[in-house]
Amino acid sequence: MDSESETPKPFGPRANAFKTLLGKIYFHRLPSYGNKIFYGLGFLALTCLVLLAATGITMAFMGQSWWLANPLGIFVRSIHLWTVQAFIAILILHILVGLTTSGFRKPRRMVWVFGAIIFGLVLIQTEFGYGLRGDFSSQFRAVSGADFWNGSHLGYWLNPLNYNQTFALHVAIIPLLILLLFIAHYILEHSYGIARPYRPDIKYKMVPADHAVMYRRGVALVAAILVLAFFFPSPYVRAIRIADVTQQNPSMVAANLFQEFNRTSETATYLDSIDPYTFDTRYVYVVIPYQKLASSVGGENAWQAFERAPTNTQHQYTQQAQQYFAQPSAKSVALPNITNGVANPVITMINTLIPAAKNGLYAAILNQEQPSINDTYTLRFLNDMNLFERKAETLNMDTAQWGMTKDETGSIWKLPPGSWWLLPLGIVNSSFNLLSNPYGDRDAAWGLGALMLLFITFPYIPFLNRLPEKLNLAPFIWKTKEKKE
Ligand code: HEM
Repeated sequence: MDSESETPKPFGPRANAFKTLLGKIYFHRLPSYGNKIFYGLGFLALTCLVLLAATGITMAFMGQSWWLANPLGIFVRSIHLWTVQAFIAILILHILVGLTTSGFRKPRRMVWVFGAIIFGLVLIQTEFGYGLRGDFSSQFRAVSGADFWNGSHLGYWLNPLNYNQTFALHVAIIPLLILLLFIAHYILEHSYGIARPYRPDIKYKMVPADHAVMYRRGVALVAAILVLAFFFPSPYVRAIRIADVTQQNPSMVAANLFQEFNRTSETATYLDSIDPYTFDTRYVYVVIPYQKLASSVGGENAWQAFERAPTNTQHQYTQQAQQYFAQPSAKSVALPNITNGVANPVITMINTLIPAAKNGLYAAILNQEQPSINDTYTLRFLNDMNLFERKAETLNMDTAQWGMTKDETGSIWKLPPGSWWLLPLGIVNSSFNLLSNPYGDRDAAWGLGALMLLFITFPYIPFLNRLPEKLNLAPFIWKTKEKKE
C-alpha cells in the first residue's frame, strides 16, 4: 500500500463534497453575454447578503453597547451599514437588468415574483435595522415608522416602538424569509438558465462561465465596503431619555404628564386609533406609576383621594391642575394647589412623579408596565412633547426636510449616505401634501402598498409586461465581442 492511500487527507473528503456542491450550484455554460457584469449582479447581491449575515450575527451576539461604543463594534456596525447601501444599489441595478432584458418573461415569471418580494422585505428590513441601532435616529424612525404601519392597518402586528419585536423581526424572521425566497429564486433561475434575447436576430454563443472573474468582482466589492466603513463610520447621535429631559425641563414634563392625565395628549387623541395606542394614557402615565411610587413611600394616596371625590370636585381639581401646569415654571408658580382645604391630588401625583422621572425610575416603571410592548410607552411619552420632531429639525433630518435621504449627517453630500431609497416616499409625501394631511400616513402606506403589488405582479400584467421589449433598451447588454466573430 502506498502512503498516500493510507493517510487520509485532512478535510479532503469535505473539500471534495464542497466542490461537488458548488458544481451543482454553479452555472457552467452561459450565453456569451452572461459573463458580463450585468449578469454578475445577482452574485454580488448574494455576497452582500453573506456579509450582512456575518456582521449582523456578530453584533447580535456582542450586544448594543459593543456595537455603539467599542471601536471594533463601531467598525462592524459600519460594515453592516455600508453593505446595506451596496446591497440596495446592486439590487436596483439587478432589477433594471431583469426589466430591460425582459428576464421576467415566461417561464421565469416566478423568478421575478420571488425577487420582488425579497426587495420589498429588504426595504422593510432596513427600517427595522435603523430602529435597532439604539440612538436618536432609531427613536425618530421608530416613531415615524409606527405612524406608517398604523396608517396601513398593520400596526397591531408591526410596532417599531417595541424593541424586542424589532429585534426578532430584524435578526431572525425577515432574514429567514429572505433566505428562503432567495433559495427559491435561485433554484428556479438555475433550472431555466439565463434568459435568451427576446429578439431572434441577436446572435450569441454558449461559453464556459467565468467563475474567477465573478469571485474577483466579489472581493473588490468587499474591499470597497471595508475601506468606506473604515473612513466613514456609521453615525451615532445620543438617544433622548426621559431622565435627561426632566432634569433639563421639569415643568415641560409636568405639563405633559397633566395632558396624559387629562387625556388630551397626542397619544390620547391619536387618529389611527388602533393597537398598540388604544391604552388609557391617564392610567399608563400617571395613575399606575404614581400608585407604585406611593405604595413604596406609604402615606395618603392622592389617586384614591381623587377617585373618592364627587365628580364636580374632580373637575375642579383637574381645572386647577391645568392652570398650575400651564405656568412657565410649575415649580415656582404662585397658584395654590389646595382646593377646599385639601391638597390637589392631581398636582400631588404629578409632583411625585417628577423626581422619579429625573432619576430614571419613572421610565423603568413605564417599561415594566407591559413588558411585551417594551419601549412603546416611553417613546410615545417623549413623542407627546414633540421632542423627536424638534431634534430632527435641528439635525436637518425631519421628514419635511427630506431627512430620510440624509439621516444624521443632515446633508445629502456627506457620507455615509442616508436611506436614499426612500426618496419615492418623500416625493409621494410632498406631491400629495401628505405631511399636513391628518390621514397622510394612511394614504402614503396605501399608495406604496399598491405600487409594491404592481411591482411584484409585473410579469403577469398584460401590455405593461411588454413595455420593456417595445423600448428595446437591452441590446447593449447582450452585445459581446464574440458576436462580431
Ligand atoms: C437577495 C436578493 C437577490 C439575489 C441574491 C439574487 C440573485 C440572483 C442570481 C444569482 C441570478 C442569476 C444571474 C444573475 O445574476 O442575473 C438572478 C437572476 C434573476 N433575478 Fe435575482 N436576486 C435577488 C433579488 C432579485 C430581485 C429583487 C429581482 C426583481 C424584482 C430579481 C429578479 C431576477 C430575474 C428576473 C432574474 C433572471 C435574469 C435572467 O435570467 O436574465 N432578483 N438573481
